[in-house]
Amino acid sequence: MNTQEDTGAYLEVQNLVKYFGNDRAVDDISFAVPKGAFLTLLGPSGCGKTTTLMSVAGLHSIDGGRIRVGDVVYTSPSEGLFLPPEKRDIGMVFQSYAIWPHMTVAKNVSYPLEIRKVNQSEIDDRVNEVLALVGLTAETDKLATNLSGGQQQRASLARAIVAKPRLLLFDEPLSNLDLKLREQMRVELKRIQNEVGITAIYVTHDQSEALVMSDEIIVMSKGKIEQRGGPLEIYSRPVNEYVSNFIGVANLLKAKVRDTNGSGQGVVEVSQDGQTMTVPCQMGPGIGAGDDAVLSVRPENVHAVRESNGGNIVEGEVTNAIFLGNYVDCRVKWGSFEWKVIAHPRTRLKAGEKVFLEFDPEHTLAVQP
Ligand SMILES: Nc1ncnc2c1ncn2[C@@H]1O[C@H](COP(=O)(O)OP(=O)(O)OP(=O)(O)O)[C@@H](O)[C@H]1O
Ligand SMILES: [Mg+2]
Repeated sequence: MNTQEDTGAYLEVQNLVKYFGNDRAVDDISFAVPKGAFLTLLGPSGCGKTTTLMSVAGLHSIDGGRIRVGDVVYTSPSEGLFLPPEKRDIGMVFQSYAIWPHMTVAKNVSYPLEIRKVNQSEIDDRVNEVLALVGLTAETDKLATNLSGGQQQRASLARAIVAKPRLLLFDEPLSNLDLKLREQMRVELKRIQNEVGITAIYVTHDQSEALVMSDEIIVMSKGKIEQRGGPLEIYSRPVNEYVSNFIGVANLLKAKVRDTNGSGQGVVEVSQDGQTMTVPCQMGPGIGAGDDAVLSVRPENVHAVRESNGGNIVEGEVTNAIFLGNYVDCRVKWGSFEWKVIAHPRTRLKAGEKVFLEFDPEHTLAVQP
């Protein structure tokens, strides 16, 4: 049996399986989170994010696997273990604010301490402290209904952390807020989680939210994990076409691996409408010589130049160049493929001109289809 001591993980989800009828909503996923870390489950609607979170919270039963936090096993059907949700010591924040409208902010936030029978003077201290942390000191005695959306979400967060739970679970907490507030709250929520040091699992389908907030991201699809890694790793080293496409923008072309050097680099061939390009690039995991692969290049890693200096691979025509201040968003036609290219404004690229596209092998990837 694994314990916290021998894996270093604080939260451990092993081989979690959850069916709804005959559908596997969560299909054998495993992950571990170190104490104090912020992990995000990211993926499109219906991929199993909420189901995974609810499994950790104990808000539904699971069909297989084991969930442990610290030295406490939350759920393990094979061992006949199921800790009821109220004993799991978890703080939760949802999309709907879920605060009690007929109570003041202070009363809403003190509730978790009251049910734990904490004495009144400690309750007052803790509530004041946590309201200061989320920036609601001036709202302490207001009725919860009189708060703005952003303030209500801060109050929910204050209530979730006031009793210093073992775990914080967030399910799309910012998606009811307008864009500007959402962007501000991302940073703030992450700061607060970091300050209180409570291990968090955060669910979102918003990739920029995931990139901004997370220590680690798990990208999910159809109940399975596609990739796990830090934000930079997920963005710059996606392991397959799905992740390349889901996170950020990428030029994706079918490719054949011609050669690999065994230490992560190789050469792929891409054919398009009778033209062929040969590209030195990084090999993603599980890709070898002769394999079908997908060439994945971010627009900022494609360099459009007017003068070929020999190493250029593709010659194309600029079909669109939109000046956006600090960069130019270009499309370059190569056969029937349109490259997305981000160019520096001083290149002054214009629609209709011929350009060469250069690729830096360090930032050009062959990934699994
Ligand atoms: N209570 C339920 N009964 C039946 N099927 C369910 C139930 N809850 C979820 N599902 C199904 O399980 C799958 C995963 O759902 P889940 O709610 O975990 O997705 P999600 O990733 O949170 O999506 P979203 O981004 O839309 O919230 C979906 O196919 C969904 O229809
Ligand atoms: Mg959901």
